[in-house]
Amino acid sequence: MAILITGGAGFIGLALAEHLLAAGRSVVLFDLAAPPADVMARPELAGARWITGDVRRRADVDAALATIPIELVIHAAAVTPNEMRERTDARGIIDVNIGGTVNLMERVVACGGIRRVVVLSSVAVYGFSSPAQSGFFEEETSHPAPAALYGISKLAAEQVAQRIAHLHGCDTRIVRLGPVYGRWELPTSVRDALSPHHQVLQALRNGQEAILPRLMRADWIYSRDAAAGIAAVAMASALGHAIYHVGGGRLSDLPDWCRTLASRFPDFRWRCAEPGEPAGIVYNLPVDRAPLSIARLVRDTGFDLAYPVGAAVADYLSWARLDRPASGGVS
Ligand SMILES: NC(=O)c1ccc[n+]([C@@H]2O[C@H](COP(=O)([O-])OP(=O)(O)OC[C@H]3O[C@@H](n4cnc5c(N)ncnc54)[C@H](O)[C@@H]3O)[C@@H](O)[C@H]2O)c1
Repeated sequence: MAILITGGAGFIGLALAEHLLAAGRSVVLFDLAAPPADVMARPELAGARWITGDVRRRADVDAALATIPIELVIHAAAVTPNEMRERTDARGIIDVNIGGTVNLMERVVACGGIRRVVVLSSVAVYGFSSPAQSGFFEEETSHPAPAALYGISKLAAEQVAQRIAHLHGCDTRIVRLGPVYGRWELPTSVRDALSPHHQVLQALRNGQEAILPRLMRADWIYSRDAAAGIAAVAMASALGHAIYHVGGGRLSDLPDWCRTLASRFPDFRWRCAEPGEPAGIVYNLPVDRAPLSIARLVRDTGFDLAYPVGAAVADYLSWARLDRPASGGVS
């Protein structure tokens, strides 16, 4: 029995594929198009099956569900817009993020025999909401109040998925994911701002100074940890809750990342922008956001974070083939 990942050619889809394949699982990746040939050729993805299709189209999802027997579905296909896309293509965002989720749930129910669906949502559902007294957003007590079309559509997708699941007795769990960085992050046509970590790495590759808009403190989670957390929810034999946070569990900031890179690449330069100076690194959030509590995830699945910043840097540089010894530049 296999695991179907929608949005399988995207950042989280590929990270999940690597994690699940390494755990000996069969994986079917479903997306509008396969990732570039050099990505597909990576040994970490050996054995993954690819099927192209649109999550909004009934026949495409049916074909994906019929490829081989599917046991679990992880729904990662989504549009992550910036303000410009919100202005110009609100309907497109809603169509994919909500309409695509409705179609997927209907096809899963019609197909039958699927043990669990995991719908990937986002910390963005909390938007204007204040964190709990603990300083964290908590599944139990924090109320979603999304601020923009992304969070609005992700919250609606959660709710329609849960309603359809309830009507048909289909085990469906929601993962609200915090901000992710790391291996497998590549530009896609549907995510308008890549993580600042990725942008900093690009600046390093290009020999440019990385100019940060601010410290950007958040509960960043490395992509391997994010994949492990999502997989823990997907694979758990028993779960006590419908909604789980997956996040870094504690705060780190971009200077942490830049300092660690600078210790390996002495020529790498970075700094925060002076007041009024345009930053080179773009970040969708105007102000920092509270972290997600992952206590529920840890309690119910035994999840443990394996990649603090230092370990993540080494792993990410090796994956990006930037792990040559420091010699005053980037090979
Ligand atoms: N990356 C993060 O930091 C982050 C944080 C919180 C939540 N999430 C959620 O995780 C999921 C994956 O995000 P990501 O970062 O991998 O984004 P991504 O843009 O890298 O990947 C999304 C994938 O979905 C595919 N897709 C879009 N429309 C589709 C359609 N109509 N049919 C089929 N495939 C389609 C895209 O082609 C893309 O490959 C999303 O649900 C997102 O909301 C991501």
